[in-house]
Amino acid sequence: MSESLLEVIDLKKHFRQRRGLFANLRGAEGVIPAVDGVSFYLKEQETVGLVGESGCGKTTVGKTILGLTGATSGKVIFAGHEITAMGGEPLRALRSSMQMIFQDLDAGLNPKMRIEQILREALTVHHRPSDAECARRIHELLDQVKLKSNKLSQYPHELSGGEKRRIGLARVLAVGPRFIVADEPTSALDVSIQAQVVNLLRDLQQDLALSFLFISHDLRIVELMSHKVAVMYLGKIVEMGVSERISHRPAHPYTRVLWTSLVEKQNREAQPAAASGAWGVFDFERPSAGCRFAPRCPVYQAAGRPAICTDAASEPPLRELSSGHYCACHFPLS
Ligand SMILES: Nc1ncnc2c1ncn2[C@@H]1O[C@H](COP(=O)(O)OP(=O)(O)OP(=O)(O)O)[C@@H](O)[C@H]1O
Ligand code: SF4
Ligand SMILES: [Mg+2]
Repeated sequence: MSESLLEVIDLKKHFRQRRGLFANLRGAEGVIPAVDGVSFYLKEQETVGLVGESGCGKTTVGKTILGLTGATSGKVIFAGHEITAMGGEPLRALRSSMQMIFQDLDAGLNPKMRIEQILREALTVHHRPSDAECARRIHELLDQVKLKSNKLSQYPHELSGGEKRRIGLARVLAVGPRFIVADEPTSALDVSIQAQVVNLLRDLQQDLALSFLFISHDLRIVELMSHKVAVMYLGKIVEMGVSERISHRPAHPYTRVLWTSLVEKQNREAQPAAASGAWGVFDFERPSAGCRFAPRCPVYQAAGRPAICTDAASEPPLRELSSGHYCACHFPLS
């Protein structure tokens, strides 16, 4: 584990749920366990894909790792520094090494600024380069994200979705990160542009020695981009392993359902609007005991609802089935 750039150990992030005045007066405060004990590690120049349906906690994992939101418990260790125990100036100093590409295409793109100003601002957040150095870096950044310099005089609203994504990426690269959380970087884009963005990220990984946590609800995109894949369900990783294994020979019933539903959707040529998950957004109602996937699990149904799946003392742990392949299920698929 010593070669890890990032280690995430039993990370939890629970949000308080507002339930209205009367419930609060009764002391009935709810909790949303958005991230409920997530562990994984990432090596230098590696991409770990994090996949799961809308609302399962992917963005919250990314933000908590970067210290953009405080963890409820658990540890995040980046390049030997325990992020979860840091704050103030030491955390700010590490920030340039760890960046996030936000899900929203417009995030960080001030509509009143031209692209040149936006990039100049990003370059001067942590450093004070000379004007000449700034101009050189701006052209280098445009080159890295494969945009022409005529974009510099434009405003964000004059750019296409793909161009906005590239400028968002250039902003992040301006800071000089080693590790990037890329949160659904392709989700709002046409299929052909999605492929371009994935290729660009892969090229940049090679050229700049970057490591990624690549977040998506789309297992196909995650497979293209990632060395390892972690499948998340209701705040927990339920399966993790090398990309090819997770996509084509999954052991967890949820991973298989996720993959099958994507293939079926592709066959039906479903509209992009349906792309946020085959069952819509979770409401975080979950079984009070046992395996959190039991209410939707085809294997549980087919096996005649075995008691162990819903037993209070037996929420299936993430066990190593074979070298580097982990699964949290009492009846993994072979
Ligand atoms: N600031 C917050 N306050 C309260 N609840 C939150 C907050 N942020 C996220 N949540 C809740 O935590 C859960 C996980 O949200 P998150 O945004 O991490 O999911 P996601 O997997 O990224 O979903 P999507 O694919 O739609 O982006 C959801 O139930 C969400 O409503
Ligand atoms: S433990 Fe049981 S309910 Fe949970 S995924 Fe496995 S078979 Fe399904
Ligand atoms: Mg999200």
